[in-house]
Amino acid sequence: MSRYLVTGGAGFIGSNIAEELVRMGEEVVVFDNLSTGHEGNIEHIRQDVTFMKGDVRNASEVRMALDGVDYVLHQAALASVPRSIDDPLLVNEVNVGGTLTVLDESRHASVKCVVYAASSSAYGDSEVLPKREDMLPTPLSPYAVSKLVGEHYCSVYSKVYGLPTISIRYFNVFGPRQDPASQYAAVIPIFISHLLDGKSPTIFGDGEQSRDFTYVGNIVKANIMAAQNGKAAGQVVNVACGGRFTLNELYGMLCELIGVSLDPVYADPRLGDVKHSHADISMAEELLGYSVETDFEEGLKRTVEWYRKSGAP
Ligand code: UD1
Repeated sequence: MSRYLVTGGAGFIGSNIAEELVRMGEEVVVFDNLSTGHEGNIEHIRQDVTFMKGDVRNASEVRMALDGVDYVLHQAALASVPRSIDDPLLVNEVNVGGTLTVLDESRHASVKCVVYAASSSAYGDSEVLPKREDMLPTPLSPYAVSKLVGEHYCSVYSKVYGLPTISIRYFNVFGPRQDPASQYAAVIPIFISHLLDGKSPTIFGDGEQSRDFTYVGNIVKANIMAAQNGKAAGQVVNVACGGRFTLNELYGMLCELIGVSLDPVYADPRLGDVKHSHADISMAEELLGYSVETDFEEGLKRTVEWYRKSGAP
């Protein structure tokens, strides 16, 4: 049995990781300042984890959480491109400052590996698709910059201090417990909650932008594989489904799954938006032994089911 620290463990992705680790019989410390995470996300595993309310920007709180920890799965961050455009300084503090604090405290603890939640937004609008890790990043938003800086710190901490790290570039993750209610919510929970409510959602732009939407279960598996992989120190790896769907396609699929026929509202494109996002996942397959466990269509079905049952929002 190993001890895992999941920063942001009461958030959407973090709580899904914590749940799987509990299922595997591992020891889990959930660390979260509950700014965007919710205790309700870990209610069902509350007896099986150690919950510590704390902030990744606070070195002494992070140090306490690291006591006896083997692996750090660093998910704590402020997500959302629009949020970063509204408040770039706060996003930088949490995403860059918080990551640096986690890395620096981890190098003083006997941590075997820090897995970092990096982002596909780092690529920006590359002309070539699918996007490969050896392409030059061209971030288009403060969020993308903040996530890219975290990657650089991870690889520098591996090189300079010998701390094993691995950065996983997530591609538009979705699934159960993703918050539909925040003003900075992601597109899939917004669309589902609107459609379940019989309301028309808004599509920014012409809806022909595309994303490699990735069901959260795939991301959970990749994090655990990455932590236990001795060969990956300092690397940056895409994790996704390796396909892409336009927003118009996504919208049509959701209308069908939910059984509604409503026209969306089209509005101006969003500032800082990437046009197309599609991952080459061959490095994850080779380096981590990763494979897609739940594809986009199946993930979407499960997610709609979850929102129906949970009655969210
Ligand atoms: C970006 C990253 C993603 C990261 C996320 C964190 C890229 C390609 N992806 O996601 O990996 O996890 O930031 O927040 O950079 N949209 C609508 N209507 C809405 C909401 C959104 O049309 O009500 C559109 C957006 O304009 C965008 C697409 O849906 O084109 C996806 O938006 P969103 O879910 O916010 O994620 P990204 O910004 O693509």
